Amino acid sequence: MTAAPSTVLITGATGGIGGALAETYAAPGVTLILQGRRQDRLRELAAICTHKGSQVITKVLDIRDADALIAWLSDVSASTSPDLVIVNAGVNIDTGPERRGETWEDIQRLLDVNVKAALATVQGVLPAMRARNAGQIALLSSLAAYRGLPITPSYSASKAAISAYGEAMRTWLEPDGVKVNVILPGYVKSDMCDGMAGPKPFLWPPQKAARVIKAGLARNKARISFPFPLNFGCWLLGVIPSAFSGWILNRLGYSE
Ligand SMILES: NC(=O)c1ccc[n+]([C@@H]2O[C@H](COP(=O)([O-])OP(=O)(O)OC[C@H]3O[C@@H](n4cnc5c(N)ncnc54)[C@H](OP(=O)(O)O)[C@@H]3O)[C@@H](O)[C@H]2O)c1
Repeated sequence: MTAAPSTVLITGATGGIGGALAETYAAPGVTLILQGRRQDRLRELAAICTHKGSQVITKVLDIRDADALIAWLSDVSASTSPDLVIVNAGVNIDTGPERRGETWEDIQRLLDVNVKAALATVQGVLPAMRARNAGQIALLSSLAAYRGLPITPSYSASKAAISAYGEAMRTWLEPDGVKVNVILPGYVKSDMCDGMAGPKPFLWPPQKAARVIKAGLARNKARISFPFPLNFGCWLLGVIPSAFSGWILNRLGYSE
């Protein structure tokens, strides 16, 4: 078991999963560093976590500004040395009604947040972690990383990128004592999930997802994927012939 982290940094803490993670880690002796864009939600969350005994630092930042993000993370790493960084902020887009397709503007925004900002977050915290030979980085991917969903091609691609990056970094960073974990959730109730197209089987409340993520990170699991059996089904879709998985996804309603 990994020692319980005493300083936890969460991006996208104003969202469904990020907020539930913040509340799950909140406890006396734990410092939380919470980033989001919505100041009012950050204040509300900080009050809840402070009430549970945590010290809370908040940061309002649009993470599409990668330079500002890395500068803030370098400062925060020097002043508070986070043990655990949860790279959670994300957005979703889909192909829209009547087979309209994704717009280039939306694709760029998605890649800026889901891929560029996620990797920039790692860049921002990694030098201090490597220098200490300690630290843990958890990257939010998705079960959509196993097999791209026709209804969310760019989102699936962004999460596959995060998954591949996390796996590679986990192995590369092992000699430095820095742990990396990839989290692949199924459907978890949140604003993003509410806005997602397609069926949402085995929907979990964010609190349950946060508990499972925390337990998986404590065990330093390479992949934390849930819920069973959706995780198994999605993994299987990724290994069977593409024509067959495509046929199944069409039949299940993940194309329109
Ligand atoms: N919910 C699901 O079913 C599900 C399934 C698989 C994977 N995931 C992944 O889990 C993570 C969290 O998702 P969620 O469901 O909790 O979504 P959510 O409730 O919509 O929260 C998204 C978070 O990302 C932040 N964010 C988005 N764009 C940002 C930007 N440009 N700058 C700064 N912050 C930004 C939001 O901040 P503000 O709201 O303050 O703008 C919010 O805190 C995402 O990476 C998502 O892809 C979710």
